[in-house]
Amino acid sequence: MKLESNRAGTIINTTTGYRAFVPAKLPPSPEINIDSEMQKLLSLADRKLGRLDGITQILPNPELFVAMYVKKEAVLSAQIEGTQASLVDVLNIPTEDMAEDYSQNDVKEVVNYVKAMYWGMEKLNTLPLSLRLIREIHKVLLKDVRGANKNPGEFRKTQNWIGPQGCTLNTATFVPPTVDEMEKAMGDLEQFIYEEDSIPALIKIALIHAQFETIHPFLDGNGRMGRLLITFWLCQQEILSEPLLYLSYYFKQNRTEYYDRLMSVRIKGDWEGWIKFFLKGVADVSDEATESAKNIIALRTHYSALLFEKDKGNGNYAALLNHLFENPIVTKKSISESLEISLPTAGTIVDLFCDMGILKDVTPDKKRYKVYEFKEYINILEKGTEIIH
Ligand SMILES: Nc1ncnc2c1ncn2[C@@H]1O[C@H](COP(=O)(O)OP(=O)(O)O)[C@@H](O)[C@H]1O
Ligand SMILES: [Mg+2]
Repeated sequence: MKLESNRAGTIINTTTGYRAFVPAKLPPSPEINIDSEMQKLLSLADRKLGRLDGITQILPNPELFVAMYVKKEAVLSAQIEGTQASLVDVLNIPTEDMAEDYSQNDVKEVVNYVKAMYWGMEKLNTLPLSLRLIREIHKVLLKDVRGANKNPGEFRKTQNWIGPQGCTLNTATFVPPTVDEMEKAMGDLEQFIYEEDSIPALIKIALIHAQFETIHPFLDGNGRMGRLLITFWLCQQEILSEPLLYLSYYFKQNRTEYYDRLMSVRIKGDWEGWIKFFLKGVADVSDEATESAKNIIALRTHYSALLFEKDKGNGNYAALLNHLFENPIVTKKSISESLEISLPTAGTIVDLFCDMGILKDVTPDKKRYKVYEFKEYINILEKGTEIIH
């Protein structure tokens, strides 16, 4: 790797004979040039993010809604580096507890991501976003999955590198800082995170994410951890009140550009190009997430009204509809248990929901119990989560 600028860092020759990148401290110098294009993107992203955030205030049960968006972000973020788990795979896990012994590694990665998100959000109510917290969150992220042998919860003690499969330290696309320099750079990054400055929050998190990826402090999970940081930051800065922005949707769709932009920061010091790309993503995904939210609300209003006419004072229909927004994949048994109604009653309601087109029988061949999906809802959520092979 040859640098065209030292704005984002320098290359050093290590004592053992390879070359590694050492990032410059943030904020960049010369400082970020907020030209009119960036200004425009910034206010657009701010405005659209605000609109998305407002959605939760008009929802009857925002937690449920947030839970779906968090799952979506988790699936997308894991998919960026090739995890082969779909949203339906994740929705198929009835409760968080059952995921404990869930054997499928890729699904477990996503489940861990969701856990790491909630765990981190909880901690951030009372603690600052520190290196210690980042390490603890990383431990949750990599618990018992691929990479679990790679020191979860600890910064690396050896050199790592990025590049095509099978490449070596000498042929790598990018060699992050040596262990000593990594530790120093993480200390500097923590300082930068704490610093009260006048950098707009969205630009600041764009800088933090890129710097984190450049430092690559962990042996694995750097991509996912770096993307979690974005959500944590937005919530801690009170730009979002809930983790609603599934920005990985954009990174997944523009993966090559995502990686190229990060490389251009390192090689050319092109912070502005990266920030603009990032801001555009925030605006795009805010729009997309707001649109999905509206579709979900409309779906709910539509079926609530239809069911209200049929319900005749019995609350089970409404209860099942509510339940489906939380668990869109069900069996008669799971419904009977969740709604505390008899199996025959559950069966009758399910049949009605099937007649109305709300539920669809999707029982796989070998299954003993019939499985039903709230397809229209899943279709809204699934957008963008197709597995890349
Ligand atoms: N070709 C590349 N160019 C630039 N960055 C890359 C490239 N390949 C991977 N990366 C960076 O490395 C991250 C993946 O690192 P890794 O530690 O494996 O994280 P994870 O396990 O969460 O995917 C990516 O998200 C990206 O930031
Ligand atoms: Mg990885």
